[in-house]
Amino acid sequence: MPSQELFVQTVEHYLAPIKAYLADPGVTEVMINRADEIYIEKDGQVSRTDAKFADQEAFEAAINNILQYTGRSLSDDQPLVDSRLPDGSRVHVAKAPCARNGTAVTIRKFSKMVLDVDWLIELGTLTRQASDFLNLAVLAEQNMLVAGGTSSGKTSLLNALSSFIPDEQRIVVIEDSAELQLQKNHLISLEAQQPDRYGSGAVTIRELFRSSLRLRPDRIIIGEVRGGEALDMIQAMTSGHGGSMGTLHANSPADALNRLETMALMSKVELPLHALRGQVASAVDLVVQMSRHIGGRRLVTQISEVDHATTEAGHYNLRDLFTLRRADGDDQADKQMQLTWTGERSAMAGRLSGEYQDQITDTIKPILGMD
Ligand SMILES: Nc1ncnc2c1ncn2[C@@H]1O[C@H](COP(=O)(O)OP(=O)(O)O)[C@@H](O)[C@H]1O
Ligand SMILES: [Mg+2]
Repeated sequence: MPSQELFVQTVEHYLAPIKAYLADPGVTEVMINRADEIYIEKDGQVSRTDAKFADQEAFEAAINNILQYTGRSLSDDQPLVDSRLPDGSRVHVAKAPCARNGTAVTIRKFSKMVLDVDWLIELGTLTRQASDFLNLAVLAEQNMLVAGGTSSGKTSLLNALSSFIPDEQRIVVIEDSAELQLQKNHLISLEAQQPDRYGSGAVTIRELFRSSLRLRPDRIIIGEVRGGEALDMIQAMTSGHGGSMGTLHANSPADALNRLETMALMSKVELPLHALRGQVASAVDLVVQMSRHIGGRRLVTQISEVDHATTEAGHYNLRDLFTLRRADGDDQADKQMQLTWTGERSAMAGRLSGEYQDQITDTIKPILGMD
């Protein structure tokens, strides 16, 4: 394996046209659609830049040179490649014919700043009351899903929420591509591996899951649920790994449960639908919905609790505890929208052990029916 130093130099040399954006901490994403069509996301706003590579060949040569350092190459039988830059930034390359206008590259920068809960509250992503509630939910080992669209802040929120996990608990993190930066000591982080250029050495999320159960975790955190591993997660959640968490792509809490179900069906394990629904309902306690708003703001738009029993017709019972509401007396859209308790009572009080009583702040007592 060539040295890291050489890798850094290679990147600096070949990616010279976009070097300034890679160095700018405000830039979170660099999107190269073509050699002469480069967009960036900066402070939440996407804009086109003047930057360009000499020509499409120079651009593709640059990408190939960089990929070499991660043991990957752009070939006709591997047109989609995930890789990383030395600083941890994620690179996704799509080559023709998949990319119909020629090779395209997206670099999602590895933000060195970890958003903690206090910062998220300051950004207006959630309120103190909602954060206190989620803190208690983590302590009470509620299984939680963070749902939302692409780049809605799911991973960042999951990262922040993990800080509520007691220090003595052992955590195993499973990710397709390592993104989470949990500030925890008792932690094992597993990352899936793509096959090398000869097609061997692949390690899937599902394999990591199986191995993780032997690592004796108290909790399992799965960066993003995308496929059949949903079933492994559901089963882990219902069998002694309470307090597990993960993110998934979904537009609402109900959509999140439906997608989880669909993904679990991809596991090729034969399970009747009603049985699977029963498992999903008993596995997931809370869904935290995120969305991305104008100006790059990310908001928690909903926190819903899942009943452990489905309806007679086999549907999920969801109870919205928090929703986005317009703050009193304000009729300006979006900016004044605030995550607000709906007045619905959480069933969590019954699942709380005594040791966390002092974490129950006055603001969340009414939610637990303790006022
Ligand atoms: N609450 C937030 N407020 C503002 N920006 C955020 C927030 N959460 C995340 N971001 C930024 O949005 C981008 C996407 O965040 P990420 O958590 O990776 O989203 P997702 O996992 O939904 O794709 C990152 O650049 C991150 O720094
Ligand atoms: Mg994510």
